[in-house]
Amino acid sequence: MIQAGFGNTAGRRKTATRILSLALAVCVVTVFAGTALAVPPGKTLEWPTPAGKVIFDGKAHADKGLKCGDCHTKIFRMKQGSDKITMGDINKGRFCGECHNGEKAFKAGDAANCGRCHKK
Ligand code: HEC
Ligand code: HEC
Ligand code: HEC
Repeated sequence: MIQAGFGNTAGRRKTATRILSLALAVCVVTVFAGTALAVPPGKTLEWPTPAGKVIFDGKAHADKGLKCGDCHTKIFRMKQGSDKITMGDINKGRFCGECHNGEKAFKAGDAANCGRCHKK
């Protein structure tokens, strides 16, 4: 009788553990799906500037083979506006300028390229 009771408690504990890990797994999947939808695929971010609004297209960057980890979080944090981005920093090779330097991608400082990021 004592042994059966013990077995029962262990059984209940096992079930509780299973339910807990299932609940955790569901949470992880939900959080991950929410994040994956946030920028790419297909989300654009916009910053208004005196030179015309800048449009950042997550899909255009993903299509060039860039992964989340290429930008997050070593270059950008994962919240629009959390980094104070300026043209001066970009031209010094920071933020967008980490790639838009004429080597990895078109150079931000070239007068011919302003309109590729800034749309009137
Ligand atoms: C080429 C660079 C780049 C890549 C690659 C990239 N992001 Fe971003 N992401 C940005 C920039 C820039 C911002 C805005 C940061 C800021 O304003 O400080 C941003 C912002 C975000 C935000 C916040 C959006 C908001 O509205 O506040 C999320 C979430 C995000 N990225 C998720 C991802 C995920 C997930 C991936 C991969 C599937 C990814 N990003 C790939 C550059 C990138
Ligand atoms: C690779 C994309 C890109 C290119 C190319 C680019 N810019 Fe920008 N520019 C930005 C971003 C991003 C910001 C910051 C927006 C914010 O945070 O408000 C910015 C901001 C600015 C601002 C606002 C003030 C400041 O200094 O931050 C001006 C003016 C500006 N750019 C002018 C130019 C001119 C002129 C060119 C061409 C010589 C150019 N930009 C090319 C992305 C670009
Ligand atoms: C990790 C590298 C990386 C960063 C950081 C990055 N880009 Fe790019 N970007 C690229 C590459 C690679 C391309 C495609 C090659 C090219 O067009 O020169 C590209 C292309 C673009 C294009 C052309 C998209 C199209 O439709 O063809 C725009 C506009 C642009 N980037 C804006 C930005 C802005 C604005 C930022 C900063 C908020 C930024 N990028 C940050 C790598 C980057």
